[in-house]
Amino acid sequence: MSSVRDDFPIFEGNNTIYFDNAATTQRPRQVIKAMQEFNDSCNANPLRGLYEWSVKATDAYEDARHDTAQFIGAERDCEIVFTRNTTESINLVAYSYGLTNIHEGDEIVVSIMEHHSDLLPWQMVARKTGAKLVYMNCTDDGIITEEEYKSKITDRTKLVAVAEVSNVLGITNPVRAIADYAHSKGAVILVDGAQSTPHMPVNVRELGADFFAFSGHKLLGPMGIGGLYGRIDLLNAMPPFLTGGEMIESVDLYDATFAPVPEKFEAGTVNAMGAVGLDAAIKYIKNLGFDTICDREKKLTERLMAGIKSIPEVTVYGNPDPDRHCGIVTFNIEGVHPHDVASILDSEHICIRAGHHCAQPLMKRLGVGATARASLYFYNTEEEVDRFVDAVSHVREWMGY
Ligand code: ALA
Repeated sequence: MSSVRDDFPIFEGNNTIYFDNAATTQRPRQVIKAMQEFNDSCNANPLRGLYEWSVKATDAYEDARHDTAQFIGAERDCEIVFTRNTTESINLVAYSYGLTNIHEGDEIVVSIMEHHSDLLPWQMVARKTGAKLVYMNCTDDGIITEEEYKSKITDRTKLVAVAEVSNVLGITNPVRAIADYAHSKGAVILVDGAQSTPHMPVNVRELGADFFAFSGHKLLGPMGIGGLYGRIDLLNAMPPFLTGGEMIESVDLYDATFAPVPEKFEAGTVNAMGAVGLDAAIKYIKNLGFDTICDREKKLTERLMAGIKSIPEVTVYGNPDPDRHCGIVTFNIEGVHPHDVASILDSEHICIRAGHHCAQPLMKRLGVGATARASLYFYNTEEEVDRFVDAVSHVREWMGY
């Protein structure tokens, strides 16, 4: 992995172990260079100017849209709306689709393991419309069973929102089966792809997703750029989320008509340099290939799980099979608060996340207030895993137990 690792300037000249990849990933030189080139050669407001720099900026932005559409299997480029991140993508659907199509007496089905960004928007829709929020529960090891989703998705369901991969347990949910069942009941499905897009090939059509949300910064891109895929007929029928510049067709004193999708949903100056960075990140991932990425993560996750499970005071949450963790291992050490675990590991130059991971309903389901979470990516190494496991094995001793 040394050649891949060399692509990441942040790892140079230090021995920091970065195991917080579910929160954000590091950026390779190729991404930084692409953004720098945009900045130095054509930084101008896209979609507006008639001069060369603006035209080039527009081309770069639209190229990014095309590559993003290809990356997640969308049929048309215009089905990709650029947003700031997964949270904004889901809010767009909640405010625009949700408030228009969901009514009193309807039901919105979410899973108990949703990140707050795929939960609070639906709480808002339920509050404003009088619809009911219904939860799909999971088994103790994090599985949403067929029996469970079939008992919660009914003729009253208007929308199902579910993560493809849980940001806490790393489990991959049976999205295709849930989508098929939701469709058979006349509901649409929104898939939170924040944790799946970096780690596995995604095809929104094969998944059966009506909406699919993801972030650029979790897949090697910059912060501040994300995407929403929406089925073209749904996007066409939806009202704008934000209004203002560049999303109009024409404006009168008291009324306006709106541009076609995707511009209808991209009010104001867009994050063109972010989109260029995302495009470079997608190219980097495609070039490396998901076979390599999945293979690396599988080996590293197996090693990490085996290592920390051999420490008697450690509890690992979720399915015992490392293949069902998507590089995410969430755990607690008996008698030590996860914040202390993270602080102690930080003193060893190891970065992990501790807390409720923006998934408090899942924490309650697991019967814990907080956990520690190590999340891997392909650029991590076996040596890092071994150092991490060794450090975890000493945490209680360093706490004075
Ligand atoms: N959603 C990110 C995480 O789970 C921030 O860490």
